[in-house]
Amino acid sequence: MPTNPEIAVSCASGVEKVLKSELKRLGYDDFPVVNGTCSFKGTLFDVANLNVNLRTADRVYIKLAEFTVEDFDTLFEGVRSVELESYLPENAKIIVSGKCVKSKLFAVSSCQSIVKKAIVVRLTEKYKINRLLENGALYEISFSIFKDVCTVLLNTSGVGLHKRGYRDLVGIAPIKETLGSSLILLSDFYYDRPFADPFCGSGTLAIEATKIALNIAGGISRRFAFNDWTNFDQKYFSLAYEKAKDNEKRDRKIEIYGSDIDPKAISIAKRHAERAGLDKYIKFEQKDVKDFYLPLKNGTIVSNPPYGERVYDKREAEECYKSLRKSFDKLDNWSMFIITSAKNFEKQFGKRADRERKLYNSNKECKFYYYYNNQGEKL
Ligand SMILES: C[S@@+](CC[C@H](N)C(=O)[O-])C[C@H]1O[C@@H](n2cnc3c(N)ncnc32)[C@H](O)[C@@H]1O
Repeated sequence: MPTNPEIAVSCASGVEKVLKSELKRLGYDDFPVVNGTCSFKGTLFDVANLNVNLRTADRVYIKLAEFTVEDFDTLFEGVRSVELESYLPENAKIIVSGKCVKSKLFAVSSCQSIVKKAIVVRLTEKYKINRLLENGALYEISFSIFKDVCTVLLNTSGVGLHKRGYRDLVGIAPIKETLGSSLILLSDFYYDRPFADPFCGSGTLAIEATKIALNIAGGISRRFAFNDWTNFDQKYFSLAYEKAKDNEKRDRKIEIYGSDIDPKAISIAKRHAERAGLDKYIKFEQKDVKDFYLPLKNGTIVSNPPYGERVYDKREAEECYKSLRKSFDKLDNWSMFIITSAKNFEKQFGKRADRERKLYNSNKECKFYYYYNNQGEKL
């Protein structure tokens, strides 16, 4: 595998700024994030390091090629001319996924077949074999045709990086771990401040906040596609993993709380915290938001309350927002950050936010409302 690949990191729309600052914190230059993707020249160590560490990225790819496509022929030739044999071994099991946006080629499944065919032709020619056995490790080739420019990528992460490895049960409308982390990184939370989520559901935000507070890497407890690749030197993974472990600050004194009205949600949250190895740091409690109170100063709430759709109706969600306001007002100088798609959140909560930001939660357009304490943006 070439040791200095072009790397592409993708993230959800709306959190580009957070990914950028995460990359910067990890020591990667200030690269622009365009259309939810940040590309730069790196090393195989970087591929492993980014997968292990990033909290807000969806996937880490190796960029194999970029070319203009007019029709199926140019797509076929474009893929066939990529030096695929440098990345895919003779026995690679190959899957192709892709998307076409604002382009002459728009039939995704036809493009998928063309791309796969071009890969098979290239590899059988180069390896001088009649057919690919495809009985080895899985390599996912992903193409994106945007405004007639085709980008061909090799997915090094495997399943999306939101799969941290600790969540195995599904609560009510759980938030993706990557979005949860993004919200916390957008908030004013710092490890020396208390953190609470009074609508904690399956515990995602409390667990992600704990990982951030203790500097525990996003992907420390999972495997990645490249872990199965015999042509990827696993020493890069060991180096990235050991470095991340050395950077952990598990002896920090932190105060993390999660509560929810639903006892089942609390038992799921506790299970997830245990699976993440973080149960001793988080206090989960069954509680209605109207009874939520913590006798602590200068804390941060980051929460994903009911939106008033599906499970909870509009009226129930509005009651939650009103109760949240009453409980929030009893706290001593806390900040609060709320994601919801409810258009009347500020009205029901009874206070205009200091700031708001448009974000998407599972393709649903939401707003993220910022309420700072009296010390402003950062303590
Ligand atoms: C959108 S879900 C939160 C999902 C959570 N972020 C996760 O990742 O699993 C909203 C949660 O609010 C809880 N809830 C509804 N009414 C509540 C109330 N009055 N007080 C506290 N929690 C409430 C529900 O039980 C549900 O778990």
